Amino acid sequence: MKKKLSRLFLIVLTMGLVACGGNNKEEKTTESSKLPEKKIIKLSTKFVEDEQTAKTLHLVENKINERLKDTLEIQVFTGGQLPIGKDSMEQVVSGANWISVDGLNFLGDYVPDYNAVSGPMLYKTFDEYLAMTKSELVKKLNKDAEKKGIKVLSLDYLFGFRSMLTEGEIKTPNDLKGLKIRVPNSQLYMLTLKAMGANPTPLPFTEVYSGIQQKVVDGLEGSLMTIYGTKIYEVRKHVSLTNHLLGVSGIAISNKVWNSLTENERNVIQEEIDNGALYNTAETVKLEEEYKKQLEDLGVVFTEVDAESFDAPISDVYTQFPKWTPGIYEEIQKELNKIRGK
Ligand code: G3P
Repeated sequence: MKKKLSRLFLIVLTMGLVACGGNNKEEKTTESSKLPEKKIIKLSTKFVEDEQTAKTLHLVENKINERLKDTLEIQVFTGGQLPIGKDSMEQVVSGANWISVDGLNFLGDYVPDYNAVSGPMLYKTFDEYLAMTKSELVKKLNKDAEKKGIKVLSLDYLFGFRSMLTEGEIKTPNDLKGLKIRVPNSQLYMLTLKAMGANPTPLPFTEVYSGIQQKVVDGLEGSLMTIYGTKIYEVRKHVSLTNHLLGVSGIAISNKVWNSLTENERNVIQEEIDNGALYNTAETVKLEEEYKKQLEDLGVVFTEVDAESFDAPISDVYTQFPKWTPGIYEEIQKELNKIRGK
Protein backbone atom coordinates (compact mmCIF):
# COMPACT_ATOMS: atom_id res chain seq x y z
CA MET A 1 0.00 0.00 0.00
CA LYS A 2 2.85 2.31 1.04
CA LYS A 3 4.67 1.41 -2.17
CA LYS A 4 1.52 2.08 -4.22
CA LEU A 5 1.03 5.45 -2.57
CA SER A 6 4.60 6.55 -3.13
CA ARG A 7 4.35 5.52 -6.80
CA LEU A 8 1.18 7.57 -7.15
CA PHE A 9 2.89 10.49 -5.41
CA LEU A 10 5.82 10.24 -7.81
CA ILE A 11 3.52 10.22 -10.81
CA VAL A 12 1.52 13.20 -9.54
CA LEU A 13 4.78 15.02 -8.82
CA THR A 14 6.43 14.34 -12.16
CA MET A 15 3.24 15.13 -14.10
CA GLY A 16 2.97 18.36 -12.15
CA LEU A 17 6.55 19.28 -13.06
CA VAL A 18 5.96 19.01 -16.79
CA ALA A 19 5.22 22.39 -18.29
CA CYS A 20 1.76 22.65 -19.81
CA GLY A 21 0.79 24.75 -22.86
CA GLY A 22 1.12 21.98 -25.45
CA ASN A 23 -1.38 23.62 -27.79
CA ASN A 24 0.86 25.57 -30.13
CA LYS A 25 -0.11 23.92 -33.39
CA GLU A 26 1.83 26.41 -35.53
CA GLU A 27 5.05 25.54 -33.76
CA LYS A 28 4.25 21.84 -34.11
CA THR A 29 3.73 22.10 -37.86
CA THR A 30 7.02 23.94 -38.33
CA GLU A 31 8.82 21.35 -36.23
CA SER A 32 7.24 18.45 -38.08
CA SER A 33 8.15 19.91 -41.48
CA LYS A 34 11.80 20.07 -40.36
CA LEU A 35 11.64 16.40 -39.39
CA PRO A 36 9.59 14.69 -42.08
CA GLU A 37 10.54 11.22 -40.86
CA LYS A 38 8.87 11.84 -37.51
CA LYS A 39 5.58 9.99 -36.96
CA ILE A 40 2.79 12.41 -36.10
CA ILE A 41 -0.26 11.07 -34.27
CA LYS A 42 -3.20 13.41 -33.72
CA LEU A 43 -5.25 12.95 -30.55
CA SER A 44 -8.79 14.29 -30.65
CA THR A 45 -11.00 14.99 -27.64
CA LYS A 46 -14.23 16.82 -26.77
CA PHE A 47 -12.83 18.15 -23.48
CA VAL A 48 -12.15 21.90 -23.42
CA GLU A 49 -8.85 23.32 -22.20
CA ASP A 50 -10.23 24.19 -18.74
CA GLU A 51 -11.30 20.62 -18.04
CA GLN A 52 -8.98 18.33 -16.10
CA THR A 53 -9.02 15.57 -18.73
CA ALA A 54 -7.74 18.04 -21.35
CA LYS A 55 -5.05 19.25 -18.95
CA THR A 56 -4.00 15.67 -18.23
CA LEU A 57 -3.87 14.84 -21.93
CA HIS A 58 -1.52 17.77 -22.53
CA LEU A 59 0.74 16.50 -19.75
CA VAL A 60 0.73 13.04 -21.32
CA GLU A 61 1.43 14.62 -24.72
CA ASN A 62 4.41 16.53 -23.33
CA LYS A 63 5.82 13.50 -21.53
CA ILE A 64 5.55 11.27 -24.62
CA ASN A 65 6.99 13.94 -26.92
CA GLU A 66 9.87 14.53 -24.53
CA ARG A 67 10.72 10.84 -24.33
CA LEU A 68 10.25 10.08 -28.06
CA LYS A 69 11.43 13.40 -29.42
CA ASP A 70 13.44 11.96 -32.31
CA THR A 71 10.86 9.62 -33.72
CA LEU A 72 7.28 10.43 -32.78
CA GLU A 73 5.04 13.31 -31.84
CA ILE A 74 1.56 13.31 -30.35
CA GLN A 75 -0.58 16.39 -31.06
CA VAL A 76 -3.55 16.94 -28.76
CA PHE A 77 -6.58 18.78 -30.17
CA THR A 78 -9.17 19.70 -27.51
CA GLY A 79 -12.72 21.04 -27.52
CA GLY A 80 -13.79 19.24 -30.69
CA GLN A 81 -11.39 21.12 -33.00
CA LEU A 82 -11.09 17.84 -34.89
CA PRO A 83 -13.81 15.19 -35.34
CA ILE A 84 -14.98 13.64 -32.06
CA GLY A 85 -17.28 10.77 -31.02
CA LYS A 86 -18.40 8.49 -33.83
CA ASP A 87 -16.36 10.42 -36.43
CA SER A 88 -13.22 10.19 -34.31
CA MET A 89 -13.64 6.42 -33.92
CA GLU A 90 -14.05 6.14 -37.69
CA GLN A 91 -10.61 7.71 -38.07
CA VAL A 92 -9.22 5.05 -35.74
CA VAL A 93 -10.93 2.18 -37.53
CA SER A 94 -9.86 3.45 -40.95
CA GLY A 95 -6.21 3.23 -39.85
CA ALA A 96 -5.40 6.95 -39.61
CA ASN A 97 -2.55 8.18 -37.37
CA TRP A 98 -5.16 9.12 -34.80
CA ILE A 99 -6.03 8.63 -31.15
CA SER A 100 -9.63 9.03 -30.05
CA VAL A 101 -10.55 10.00 -26.48
CA ASP A 102 -14.28 9.74 -25.96
CA GLY A 103 -17.13 7.92 -24.23
CA LEU A 104 -17.09 4.12 -24.05
CA ASN A 105 -20.35 4.18 -25.98
CA PHE A 106 -18.36 4.96 -29.15
CA LEU A 107 -16.33 1.78 -28.57
CA GLY A 108 -19.71 0.17 -27.97
CA ASP A 109 -20.60 0.88 -31.60
CA TYR A 110 -18.01 -1.79 -32.49
CA VAL A 111 -18.11 -4.06 -29.41
CA PRO A 112 -21.61 -3.55 -27.96
CA ASP A 113 -20.74 -4.96 -24.51
CA TYR A 114 -18.70 -1.81 -23.73
CA ASN A 115 -22.08 -0.16 -23.24
CA ALA A 116 -23.03 -2.86 -20.74
CA VAL A 117 -19.93 -2.30 -18.57
CA SER A 118 -20.51 1.46 -18.57
CA GLY A 119 -24.28 1.20 -18.06
CA PRO A 120 -26.40 3.19 -15.60
CA MET A 121 -26.31 2.71 -11.81
CA LEU A 122 -23.59 0.02 -11.89
CA TYR A 123 -20.81 1.56 -9.82
CA LYS A 124 -20.89 3.17 -6.39
CA THR A 125 -17.28 4.39 -6.44
CA PHE A 126 -14.54 5.21 -8.95
CA ASP A 127 -12.51 2.30 -7.58
CA GLU A 128 -15.23 -0.20 -8.43
CA TYR A 129 -15.19 0.93 -12.05
CA LEU A 130 -11.38 0.97 -12.15
CA ALA A 131 -11.31 -2.59 -10.83
CA MET A 132 -13.82 -3.63 -13.51
CA THR A 133 -11.57 -2.31 -16.29
CA LYS A 134 -8.85 -4.73 -15.07
CA SER A 135 -11.21 -7.74 -15.01
CA GLU A 136 -10.99 -10.69 -17.40
CA LEU A 137 -14.43 -9.68 -18.66
CA VAL A 138 -13.19 -6.29 -19.88
CA LYS A 139 -9.85 -7.70 -21.08
CA LYS A 140 -11.90 -9.93 -23.38
CA LEU A 141 -13.77 -6.90 -24.76
CA ASN A 142 -10.42 -5.25 -25.50
CA LYS A 143 -9.39 -8.39 -27.41
CA ASP A 144 -12.67 -8.25 -29.36
CA ALA A 145 -11.94 -4.60 -30.17
CA GLU A 146 -8.55 -5.60 -31.58
CA LYS A 147 -10.32 -7.94 -33.98
CA LYS A 148 -12.21 -4.87 -35.23
CA GLY A 149 -8.95 -2.96 -35.74
CA ILE A 150 -9.10 -1.00 -32.46
CA LYS A 151 -6.36 -1.05 -29.84
CA VAL A 152 -7.77 0.20 -26.54
CA LEU A 153 -5.04 2.06 -24.65
CA SER A 154 -7.09 2.98 -21.59
CA LEU A 155 -10.61 2.94 -20.22
CA ASP A 156 -9.58 4.72 -17.02
CA TYR A 157 -9.93 8.41 -17.83
CA LEU A 158 -12.96 9.08 -15.64
CA PHE A 159 -14.48 12.47 -15.00
CA GLY A 160 -17.11 11.82 -12.35
CA PHE A 161 -20.67 10.63 -11.83
CA ARG A 162 -23.24 12.45 -13.93
CA SER A 163 -26.26 14.27 -12.51
CA MET A 164 -29.05 16.52 -13.78
CA LEU A 165 -28.52 20.20 -14.43
CA THR A 166 -31.86 21.88 -14.91
CA GLU A 167 -33.75 25.02 -14.05
CA GLY A 168 -35.77 23.51 -11.20
CA GLU A 169 -35.18 20.71 -8.72
CA ILE A 170 -35.60 17.05 -9.72
CA LYS A 171 -36.58 14.53 -7.05
CA THR A 172 -38.33 11.71 -8.95
CA PRO A 173 -38.83 10.61 -12.59
CA ASN A 174 -42.06 12.61 -12.55
CA ASP A 175 -40.11 15.86 -12.29
CA LEU A 176 -38.28 15.05 -15.54
CA LYS A 177 -41.52 14.55 -17.52
CA GLY A 178 -41.57 16.71 -20.64
CA LEU A 179 -38.06 18.10 -20.05
CA LYS A 180 -35.72 18.03 -23.03
CA ILE A 181 -32.40 16.90 -21.61
CA ARG A 182 -29.26 17.04 -23.72
CA VAL A 183 -27.36 13.75 -23.97
CA PRO A 184 -24.30 12.64 -25.97
CA ASN A 185 -25.23 10.94 -29.23
CA SER A 186 -25.53 7.48 -27.71
CA GLN A 187 -28.28 4.87 -27.55
CA LEU A 188 -27.26 4.01 -23.98
CA TYR A 189 -27.73 7.61 -22.85
CA MET A 190 -30.95 8.04 -24.83
CA LEU A 191 -32.53 4.93 -23.26
CA THR A 192 -31.29 5.77 -19.77
CA LEU A 193 -32.68 9.30 -19.80
CA LYS A 194 -35.92 8.09 -21.34
CA ALA A 195 -36.26 5.51 -18.56
CA MET A 196 -35.61 8.25 -16.02
CA GLY A 197 -38.64 10.14 -17.34
CA ALA A 198 -36.97 12.77 -19.55
CA ASN A 199 -37.16 13.57 -23.21
CA PRO A 200 -33.50 12.89 -24.23
CA THR A 201 -32.12 15.12 -26.97
CA PRO A 202 -28.72 14.24 -28.53
CA LEU A 203 -26.53 17.26 -29.16
CA PRO A 204 -22.75 17.77 -29.42
CA PHE A 205 -21.53 19.36 -26.19
CA THR A 206 -20.24 22.40 -28.11
CA GLU A 207 -23.89 23.28 -28.89
CA VAL A 208 -25.30 22.87 -25.37
CA TYR A 209 -24.69 26.39 -24.04
CA SER A 210 -26.46 28.08 -26.96
CA GLY A 211 -29.00 25.23 -27.07
CA ILE A 212 -30.11 26.13 -23.56
CA GLN A 213 -30.19 29.84 -24.33
CA GLN A 214 -32.27 29.17 -27.45
CA LYS A 215 -34.50 26.67 -25.60
CA VAL A 216 -33.52 23.77 -27.90
CA VAL A 217 -33.03 21.86 -24.64
CA ASP A 218 -34.23 22.53 -21.08
CA GLY A 219 -31.14 21.14 -19.37
CA LEU A 220 -28.46 18.49 -19.48
CA GLU A 221 -26.85 15.73 -17.48
CA GLY A 222 -23.16 15.83 -16.63
CA SER A 223 -20.50 15.58 -13.98
CA LEU A 224 -19.21 18.33 -11.68
CA MET A 225 -16.02 18.39 -13.75
CA THR A 226 -18.06 19.12 -16.88
CA ILE A 227 -20.39 21.61 -15.20
CA TYR A 228 -17.49 23.61 -13.78
CA GLY A 229 -14.94 23.18 -16.59
CA THR A 230 -17.27 24.13 -19.44
CA LYS A 231 -18.95 26.98 -17.47
CA ILE A 232 -22.35 25.54 -18.37
CA TYR A 233 -23.46 26.51 -14.82
CA GLU A 234 -23.81 30.04 -16.21
CA VAL A 235 -27.05 29.01 -17.92
CA ARG A 236 -28.45 26.40 -15.51
CA LYS A 237 -28.17 26.54 -11.73
CA HIS A 238 -29.81 23.44 -10.25
CA VAL A 239 -27.92 20.16 -9.82
CA SER A 240 -30.03 17.15 -8.80
CA LEU A 241 -27.70 14.37 -7.70
CA THR A 242 -28.97 11.40 -9.69
CA ASN A 243 -25.41 10.02 -10.22
CA HIS A 244 -27.00 7.85 -12.91
CA LEU A 245 -23.94 7.20 -15.11
CA LEU A 246 -20.20 7.44 -14.61
CA GLY A 247 -18.47 9.83 -17.02
CA VAL A 248 -15.54 7.88 -18.49
CA SER A 249 -13.42 8.10 -21.60
CA GLY A 250 -11.76 5.33 -23.53
CA ILE A 251 -8.52 6.00 -25.39
CA ALA A 252 -8.18 4.14 -28.67
CA ILE A 253 -5.77 3.93 -31.60
CA SER A 254 -5.81 1.90 -34.80
CA ASN A 255 -4.44 -1.58 -34.18
CA LYS A 256 -2.53 -1.34 -37.46
CA VAL A 257 -0.90 1.95 -36.46
CA TRP A 258 -0.12 0.57 -33.00
CA ASN A 259 1.60 -2.50 -34.45
CA SER A 260 3.62 -0.32 -36.82
CA LEU A 261 5.27 1.50 -33.88
CA THR A 262 8.52 0.33 -32.36
CA GLU A 263 8.38 -1.59 -29.08
CA ASN A 264 9.94 1.39 -27.30
CA GLU A 265 7.34 3.79 -28.74
CA ARG A 266 4.52 1.49 -27.68
CA ASN A 267 5.95 1.13 -24.18
CA VAL A 268 6.42 4.87 -23.72
CA ILE A 269 2.93 5.73 -24.98
CA GLN A 270 1.29 3.04 -22.84
CA GLU A 271 3.26 4.00 -19.72
CA GLU A 272 2.46 7.70 -20.02
CA ILE A 273 -1.21 7.08 -20.74
CA ASP A 274 -1.40 4.80 -17.67
CA ASN A 275 0.41 7.35 -15.50
CA GLY A 276 -1.92 10.03 -16.84
CA ALA A 277 -4.97 7.98 -15.85
CA LEU A 278 -3.76 7.67 -12.23
CA TYR A 279 -3.01 11.38 -12.11
CA ASN A 280 -6.35 12.24 -13.70
CA THR A 281 -8.28 10.23 -11.12
CA ALA A 282 -6.34 11.76 -8.22
CA GLU A 283 -7.02 15.26 -9.55
CA THR A 284 -10.69 14.47 -10.20
CA VAL A 285 -11.20 13.28 -6.62
CA LYS A 286 -9.59 16.44 -5.29
CA LEU A 287 -11.25 18.86 -7.70
CA GLU A 288 -14.78 17.51 -7.34
CA GLU A 289 -14.85 18.74 -3.74
CA GLU A 290 -13.34 22.11 -4.63
CA TYR A 291 -15.63 22.60 -7.60
CA LYS A 292 -18.74 21.82 -5.55
CA LYS A 293 -17.88 24.60 -3.11
CA GLN A 294 -17.01 27.00 -5.91
CA LEU A 295 -20.22 26.21 -7.77
CA GLU A 296 -22.23 26.86 -4.61
CA ASP A 297 -20.50 30.24 -4.34
CA LEU A 298 -21.52 30.90 -7.92
CA GLY A 299 -25.16 30.29 -7.00
CA VAL A 300 -25.55 26.64 -8.01
CA VAL A 301 -27.95 24.70 -5.78
CA PHE A 302 -27.44 20.96 -5.12
CA THR A 303 -30.35 18.65 -4.26
CA GLU A 304 -30.46 14.99 -3.23
CA VAL A 305 -32.95 12.96 -5.28
CA ASP A 306 -35.31 10.16 -4.24
CA ALA A 307 -32.79 7.57 -5.53
CA GLU A 308 -35.10 4.57 -5.13
CA SER A 309 -37.71 6.08 -7.45
CA PHE A 310 -35.17 5.85 -10.32
CA ASP A 311 -34.00 2.26 -9.60
CA ALA A 312 -36.79 0.24 -11.22
CA PRO A 313 -37.14 2.37 -14.39
CA ILE A 314 -33.37 2.33 -14.90
CA SER A 315 -33.00 -1.43 -14.39
CA ASP A 316 -35.29 -1.84 -17.39
CA VAL A 317 -32.61 -0.23 -19.61
CA TYR A 318 -30.55 -3.44 -19.35
CA THR A 319 -33.25 -5.40 -21.22
CA GLN A 320 -33.21 -3.11 -24.24
CA PHE A 321 -29.96 -4.03 -26.02
CA PRO A 322 -30.42 -7.00 -28.35
CA LYS A 323 -26.77 -6.79 -29.48
CA TRP A 324 -25.31 -7.37 -26.00
CA THR A 325 -23.98 -10.84 -25.23
CA PRO A 326 -26.76 -12.81 -23.52
CA GLY A 327 -26.11 -12.95 -19.78
CA ILE A 328 -23.59 -10.05 -19.82
CA TYR A 329 -25.50 -8.12 -17.13
CA GLU A 330 -25.36 -11.13 -14.78
CA GLU A 331 -21.65 -11.56 -15.53
CA ILE A 332 -21.03 -7.90 -14.69
CA GLN A 333 -22.94 -8.29 -11.43
CA LYS A 334 -20.87 -11.38 -10.55
CA GLU A 335 -17.68 -9.43 -11.24
CA LEU A 336 -18.95 -6.51 -9.17
CA ASN A 337 -19.68 -8.83 -6.27
CA LYS A 338 -16.09 -10.11 -6.46
CA ILE A 339 -14.82 -6.52 -6.51
CA ARG A 340 -16.97 -5.70 -3.48
CA GLY A 341 -15.63 -8.78 -1.69
CA LYS A 342 -19.01 -10.51 -1.50
O1 G3P B 1 -16.53 18.98 -22.57
C1 G3P B 1 -17.64 18.15 -22.48
C2 G3P B 1 -17.41 16.97 -21.56
O2 G3P B 1 -17.07 17.38 -20.27
C3 G3P B 1 -18.61 16.08 -21.46
O3 G3P B 1 -19.05 15.67 -22.71
O4 G3P B 1 -20.53 14.59 -24.32
O5 G3P B 1 -19.74 13.30 -22.29
O6 G3P B 1 -21.39 15.12 -22.03
P1 G3P B 1 -20.24 14.61 -22.84
